[in-house]
Amino acid sequence: MVTAQESPRAQVLVASNRGPVSYTLKDDGSLESKRGGGGLVSGLSAIGSDVDSVWVCAALSGGDREAVRQGVGEQGVRMLDIDPEVFADAYNGIANSVLWFVQHMLYQIPLEPVFDAEFRRQWASYEAYNRAFAEALAAEAADGARVLVQDYHLALVPGMLRELRPDLRIGHFSHTPWAPVDYFRMLPDDIAEQLLRGMLGADRLGFLTRRWASAFLDSVAGVLPAEDGEVAGHEGDASGGGPEGRRFFRHGAAGGQGRTTEIAVHSLGADGDFLRKRSHEADVEERMAALREQIGAGRKTIVRVDRTELSKNIVRGLLAYRHLLDTRPEWRERVVHVAFAYPSRQDLAVYRDYTAEVARVAEDINSRYGTPGWTPVVLHVQDDFARSLAAYRLADVALVNPVRDGMNLVAKEVPVVSDAGCVLVLSREAGAWAELRDDALVVNPYDVTGTAAALHAALSLPEGERAERTKRLAAAGTALPPRRWFLDQLEALGG
Ligand code: F6P
Repeated sequence: MVTAQESPRAQVLVASNRGPVSYTLKDDGSLESKRGGGGLVSGLSAIGSDVDSVWVCAALSGGDREAVRQGVGEQGVRMLDIDPEVFADAYNGIANSVLWFVQHMLYQIPLEPVFDAEFRRQWASYEAYNRAFAEALAAEAADGARVLVQDYHLALVPGMLRELRPDLRIGHFSHTPWAPVDYFRMLPDDIAEQLLRGMLGADRLGFLTRRWASAFLDSVAGVLPAEDGEVAGHEGDASGGGPEGRRFFRHGAAGGQGRTTEIAVHSLGADGDFLRKRSHEADVEERMAALREQIGAGRKTIVRVDRTELSKNIVRGLLAYRHLLDTRPEWRERVVHVAFAYPSRQDLAVYRDYTAEVARVAEDINSRYGTPGWTPVVLHVQDDFARSLAAYRLADVALVNPVRDGMNLVAKEVPVVSDAGCVLVLSREAGAWAELRDDALVVNPYDVTGTAAALHAALSLPEGERAERTKRLAAAGTALPPRRWFLDQLEALGG
């Protein structure tokens, strides 16, 4: 164990379900490693070499488990080989099928959710999986280390870790939205309380927008009994302090009298420098040429890039495009909808069904309107980052219409790399709306005809205005790059 005295600044630990590296077992028995990207990777790279860091994550695949067993790994990464059944219950059963559904409000309410004995069994696995993380962090952490726990997968970790190591500074960050209290308390009362208490074990809780932070505080006020403590410094409350109105939970006897948990907002922006450079590399240029060919000369392009995720609203986006072609025949043959929908969570039947529905609606549009020289929807499902960047550069319109989204970085990335300016059609239910709404065309994601009207307006926007809006969107979207997001949280945590 490294002690605080040996390390000039307090050690930093990150905990997340998905780690920065993954392994594939090849036919010859060797292991191939692949590094991922994202805000945490770039944030952690910014802390400086004088700071010791450890990233605790779960082994997700057979390859990852094999790497753990063989002792293969990267310096500073500790992968946990949690029992595969426990992991599946915790990740697919609870995190993806319950917590994700609650925070994104995805249930078809007349029939679900059903919190039965099977749910209770899976919940016990979720507890065990959280405990494995808490124990690993407690074992790795130096005195007074700073720990940044990520997301709904690990909501119980702060409370468990505080019990094991009260000396640590613990932060938790939610990358998702937070549900309104009436939706959140569909969870069984004891489970809702356990989740909130688990998170409140942290010294700081971070959210992407003020809206999600406020919804969390509403859940705290609506679910936890008074003995647990009270919410202090509400928005607009003079006791809030500071221009942003810092908010706190003051713990009562149950959570450690006198202790406070700060509820903070840290928006996350696009990594402008990286994107501008990466989007001009040769593989992106190649893919631009291939896409131009598929689109056809002189046509406008509506682009969307998503994981095939239930909350992304890809089907209604296609229906809006179909309505545009129906009601505005002048756009037929003159526009192509380039939709990249990359597979996600295919272990879950509801995701597989949704993926199939996206393909079915795309095919329906193509067979209804397509002509020998024009394919109205170009759908790609094979994940290809270089091709995504190529589409960003070519887009005349970017469609980002989630029913609910913590932030949505695509909305911030497209304007940064767009070659000729791009109009952003943006859902008011995406976290990014708070920062981009002035220069986007804003839609209600459920309103298909409204979205079609916005697509028409976007395609018709004069070039000058489009360029001006794109400039402002790029500036707003890169104002808080991942490094700043990460370092601000660390600094606020102290140590
Ligand atoms: O939106 C929150 C988030 O944790 C993202 O960071 C990530 O893209 C996703 O949810 C998790 O996806 P997966 O289940 O594929 O790890």
